Amino acid sequence: MNRIIFATGNEDKLKEIRMILKDTGVEVVSMKEAGISAEIAEDGKTFEENAVIKAKTVMELSSEAVLSDDSGLEIDALDGAPGVHSARFMGTDTSYDIKNAAILEKLAGVPEEKRTARFVCAVVCALPDGRIFTCQRTMEGRIGYEIRGKNGFGYDPIFYLPEYGCYSAELSPEKKNEISHRGKALRGMRAILKEELIL
Ligand code: IMP
Repeated sequence: MNRIIFATGNEDKLKEIRMILKDTGVEVVSMKEAGISAEIAEDGKTFEENAVIKAKTVMELSSEAVLSDDSGLEIDALDGAPGVHSARFMGTDTSYDIKNAAILEKLAGVPEEKRTARFVCAVVCALPDGRIFTCQRTMEGRIGYEIRGKNGFGYDPIFYLPEYGCYSAELSPEKKNEISHRGKALRGMRAILKEELIL
């Protein structure tokens, strides 16, 4: 295989997957570069379902190999919310300062041991011959008590990593890629595609 479409409009995600697949010689192109535009309803109940919907839709439109991902934050004390609704939680136009403050407020009084949470990322590859591969990974941590750190994005400033003694938004981009749900799922998918002799 000499090229694969990554079903995302996010430049940072494209950069990350290009780095991970660099030595394979496979060219990773965005949907725009492949001339595909589609409004895809992400109405699945799980991260994996949503990633499968995206990868299959773009594969059917392009007849090429397609990678996709779907991710979000699961908070145990909120029964797994915001989960698959992470991007839409409180509205897509609401700033993460406001969303993060609202989550801290909801968890006021919740003791340390019940503040467990995880970032989840499902990566899917859909091939034109109908084969579908999936790889899901997590980054486990806790919801902290304050908003801290300038790196990362989204919910990183309230996500505390006990193992590292810091918030996710305090990690360097390199360290975050090494331990994050997305980095691990993308590298896991690379391993699957190598094993299947697709890469
Ligand atoms: P998507 O997979 O690009 O749709 O991302 C879903 C949403 O989950 C993002 O908009 C963020 O709110 C949240 N999210 C996913 N991964 C991360 C992360 O690494 N840090 C912070 N927030 C994240």
